[in-house]
Amino acid sequence: MKKQTTVYRCANCGHTEPKWLGRCPECGQWNTLKEQSAAAGSARADIKGETYSLPIAAIDPASGTRIASGSAELDRVLGGGFVRGSAILLGGEPGIGKSTLLLQVCAKIQSKGRVLYVSGEESPSQIRARADRLGALRDGLEVFCSSDIDRVMDVIESVKPILTVVDSIQMIYSPEAGAVPGTANQIKYCTQEMTEWAKTHDSVIVFVAHVTKDGLIAGPKAAEHIVDAVLSFEQAEGDLRALRAAKNRFGSTDELGLYRMGAGGLEEIADPSGVLLIQRAGEMPPGVAVAIVHEGSRVLLVEIQALAVPAKAGITRVYSDRIDASRVARVAAVIEKQTGLRLSDQDLYVNVAGGVRLAEPGIDLALAAALYSARTGQPLPKGAALAGELSLAGELRPVRQMAKRARSAKALGFSSVLGPAEGAYKENEEGGRSAAPRAKAGARPDWGRADSLKAAIRELWR
Ligand code: TYD
Ligand code: MG
Repeated sequence: MKKQTTVYRCANCGHTEPKWLGRCPECGQWNTLKEQSAAAGSARADIKGETYSLPIAAIDPASGTRIASGSAELDRVLGGGFVRGSAILLGGEPGIGKSTLLLQVCAKIQSKGRVLYVSGEESPSQIRARADRLGALRDGLEVFCSSDIDRVMDVIESVKPILTVVDSIQMIYSPEAGAVPGTANQIKYCTQEMTEWAKTHDSVIVFVAHVTKDGLIAGPKAAEHIVDAVLSFEQAEGDLRALRAAKNRFGSTDELGLYRMGAGGLEEIADPSGVLLIQRAGEMPPGVAVAIVHEGSRVLLVEIQALAVPAKAGITRVYSDRIDASRVARVAAVIEKQTGLRLSDQDLYVNVAGGVRLAEPGIDLALAAALYSARTGQPLPKGAALAGELSLAGELRPVRQMAKRARSAKALGFSSVLGPAEGAYKENEEGGRSAAPRAKAGARPDWGRADSLKAAIRELWR
């Protein structure tokens, strides 16, 4: 369909028509339709203070286009770069690398337009020193240090940046929203004001938010509803950093971005498939299983570690930070039911090597194998990598991209991949589900298949 750039609006009643008409079909007045531009940004007509709606086809699709951030990992997590006219909240514990990441991004994006880095935490010379270290001294990158929203807004108005970083939202305050910076009211007020500016100027704004150890964006929770995306930056293990979206109006929330903090700032980990693995010379210890995880669009191999010890005083507990404890309990119950191996009198400890949180359903089989191995003391065979979702009935359910998972595991040297048949879970090109075509006659799967937990255990401990 041809893109429409003008509409005709009735001066009498406000009715809009895609074509000029002598008489308004709505109110019947003659010669009241006036040409009106539906140029860039008119989808936000209301935000701009104009009070009319538009036929959907008259909206310029150009507004809402993306700008690459210069960091492929960040782009992936955002769903393909920053969306113009959007606001993002980046949360993370102090010292995790939020300022470093954003300064690096600013230095990259400034080639496309002016960029403003607002800091309420550090002095200009501190920021300059960091930029020196990161090789981020660029002409198009400007710095303003203040925590007064009115002064910040004046500078934003005059610079008109394509990207503004506010480090941090907890430090910015307005005298109009109470005296103390960092309160929910202050954060809401300031986020709202700056987000509004970004939306009306097709600009991008990123707010840094410090979060507490328990992972909640406590104060800035108030801002989460205002912004378009909420990202969290976490420490995985050592110098490894994981970036995830908790909310994303413009893309999915299941992409994982990985960085390594080094002397020259944050480096991207382009191929993360093996980065979380532990290299072992000899046999696998009992309680350890390798899961083939499909996070977002990539495959990761991750070691799941389990420990089972008899519970004291008859009360059992599950200790698991990286995998939801209720999933661990469910998988343990399925094992007990299917194999008769008693886990219900045990305290269960589960960890994920590399420190990454796992929520993907396909880790069930590896989790079950780790628990089974921990309880029986029998290690898994070397070179085994597992994927598959478990039903409560002990069936092994198909997972997305099983063939791709098997290929990635094989490429990393895992000789025996075990998982469900690809079955009904076959993805079409858009990534959605559709009925699988019948397996081609004679096509041989390149991974070992099992259709139940029992069959998988038989296969692993023959
Ligand atoms: P920073 O970006 O200041 O964290 P945040 O803004 O989340 O509080 O990063 C702080 C840590 O990163 C600090 O401990 C020093 C370390 N770091 C490096 O290891 N390499 C670098 O190039 C930089 C700039 C920082
Ligand atoms: Mg900082």
